[in-house]
Amino acid sequence: AEPLNIALAGLGTVGAGVVRLIETNAELIARRARRPIRIAAVSARDRSKDRGVDLSPYRWLDDPAEVATQPDIDVVVEMVGGSDGPALALARKAISGGKSFVTANKAMIAHHGLELAAAAEAAGVALKFEAAVAGGIPVIKGLSEGAAANAIERVYGILNGTCNYILSTMEDTGRDFADVLGDAQRLGYAEADPTFDVEGIDAAHKLAILAGIAFGTRLRFDAVETTGITGVMAADIAQARALGYVIRLIGTAEIDRGGASPGLFQRVRPHLIHCDHPLASVDGATNAVVAEGNFMGRLLFQGAGAGAGPTASAVVADLIDIARGEKGAAFSMPSHELESLEPAQSGHR
Ligand code: NAP
Ligand code: HSE
Repeated sequence: AEPLNIALAGLGTVGAGVVRLIETNAELIARRARRPIRIAAVSARDRSKDRGVDLSPYRWLDDPAEVATQPDIDVVVEMVGGSDGPALALARKAISGGKSFVTANKAMIAHHGLELAAAAEAAGVALKFEAAVAGGIPVIKGLSEGAAANAIERVYGILNGTCNYILSTMEDTGRDFADVLGDAQRLGYAEADPTFDVEGIDAAHKLAILAGIAFGTRLRFDAVETTGITGVMAADIAQARALGYVIRLIGTAEIDRGGASPGLFQRVRPHLIHCDHPLASVDGATNAVVAEGNFMGRLLFQGAGAGAGPTASAVVADLIDIARGEKGAAFSMPSHELESLEPAQSGHR
């Protein structure tokens, strides 16, 4: 069978992980995708950097924008990061040029996902971003396919691996915030700018995407009430523990039916979680997502939320879908059919 030719833009934690996964599991992937997935070209800033993978078999491009115009490429995989800049320019160029597009970039999807989905629908190509929410957990597929028959009114969970790693490690070891954040950076969990993690912005990006998928609503990242974990002190963690609680950064999205018309409530904030609650035992860079549907009841997804292997696993799952010819709408339904809900403020509840 004809290979699916892909180009990778970004060869950091996630990009190098994707190279390693595709090389290690090439045979299994080809069987499941019913055709080989072939890396044709790669791109990053610094060609001389040692990334722990041999890139010599692949065509090197200095500028990620060039990735979009290579005639032999079927799919562009963006793992550069940033809501705008080179990532967005690449997405627009690749999609309008008729190439399918896979990304791990939640910041870009939270800000520009609807525009990109509409462009992909117009161009007849796939736009996929499983890796953008909750790392290796197939939560987008799970909600948009597995839970497709349900009305989901509430989705919540632990959406940032770095914060969960910091909170649970501080709790277990009593170590200092900055010191543990340094570990999370070394382990490849944190964003290039870790402010996005610790201020709750990364979790807010993911929550906005998740709400769009779960409720079939237009994304409203601007309306997520966001508080991070920088105000959480070691003494707060110890005090919570003494009372039988742990502290976790939780994102919650809900359809609020309390007013004259339904509203979309979205909030990211540190919460006290009772030690008996399933989310209290979610440690390290693990994420967990709970969705409540009117027929399925409560669904809990849990797994590695950050890091090279789990994130690469989600990226390559999207590539396998595309290799099989699956081109479903990025947000489960055509972007113009997504419902537009006004934000519901927490003070009104
Ligand atoms: P990273 O390690 O910082 O890698 C970023 C890559 O992009 C690097 O290879 C870098 O090149 C390249 N790059 C950055 N700016 C560029 C520019 N202006 N022009 C060309 N190339 C540029 O980041 P990462 O952790 O792999 O994350 C990549 C994306 O995946 C982000 O959107 C992130 O939010 C998302 N994500 C990450 C994780 C995770 O666990 N790390 C999980 C899920 C999603 P050089 O290497 O040459 O500097
Ligand atoms: N920085 C993110 C996190 C990476 O810590 O969850 C995974 O999206």
